[in-house]
Amino acid sequence: MVAAGEAFACLTCYDASMARLLERAGVHVLLVGDTAAEVVLGYDRTTDMPLDVLLALTAAVKRGAPRTLVMGDMPFMSYQADDAEGVRNAGRFLTEGRADIVKVEVDKSFAPLVAKMARAGIPVCGHVGSKPQRAAMSGGYSAAGRTIAEARDIVADAVALQEAGCVMLLVEAVPDEVTEAIMAATTLPLIGIGAGTQCHGQVLVLHDALGLSAQAPRFVDPVAQLAEPVIEAGREWVRRVRARSLGGRRYTMKAEQGSSQRIPDGPVPTVNVTPGAGSSKQGPAKSAE
Ligand code: KIV
Repeated sequence: MVAAGEAFACLTCYDASMARLLERAGVHVLLVGDTAAEVVLGYDRTTDMPLDVLLALTAAVKRGAPRTLVMGDMPFMSYQADDAEGVRNAGRFLTEGRADIVKVEVDKSFAPLVAKMARAGIPVCGHVGSKPQRAAMSGGYSAAGRTIAEARDIVADAVALQEAGCVMLLVEAVPDEVTEAIMAATTLPLIGIGAGTQCHGQVLVLHDALGLSAQAPRFVDPVAQLAEPVIEAGREWVRRVRARSLGGRRYTMKAEQGSSQRIPDGPVPTVNVTPGAGSSKQGPAKSAE
């Protein structure tokens, strides 16, 4: 595909149901990103992503899209502290997570780790440019490669990672010129996010692409606006429940004749459904009138 000059499409994905739909849509690569920390688990940074949860989500995505290339994103502290631990955790993405390839946010100093992963038979995608797992050092999520020195460093990172054995690169939030320089200096398929249109492939966080995020990065032009339809579907469900009109009568269970006499009486568990009784970050739940 890359050799033929055709761009490939990548989206993040975090569950089997969505993976099944995105495979049907023909998306070429599903990235089970550590952005799951934000869009699935509700944290405000990717560094909170637990390794075991991301492994489970990766396996779920592969079960939903068995014919699609699935990339497992190695979360913060699953590979930075120690090379042996990093290689073992990368291996877990292939075995437990059923991933086809792992992604690590790295610069040239991680080339020896990438070489060890490659030696162990683990395909690696090197994520360069803006690296959200380093946000604590860089003062938050920000673009990268805006100065000549930074741009040169990023290109040198990409070259070193290719030499170390990466089979793919991903570049995040850099000026087009930096992307062009990476493409000129390396031969690997390059996925971009906020890095210009010339990359071999493009990725977006699924919730940003579908218009489901409260706030998407400036470079995102959503391909759909699904937030309102979801809210409207929720409202419709509330209306149906209140009207005691659920539809789907053919799924109503028929009791065996006389069975009501045979259902033993016993203690009935109590469930508190008092409107407003639940706990919520937004304050008391709305009254169900
Ligand atoms: O975790 C993720 O979703 C990513 C993309 C933003 C590239 O790394």
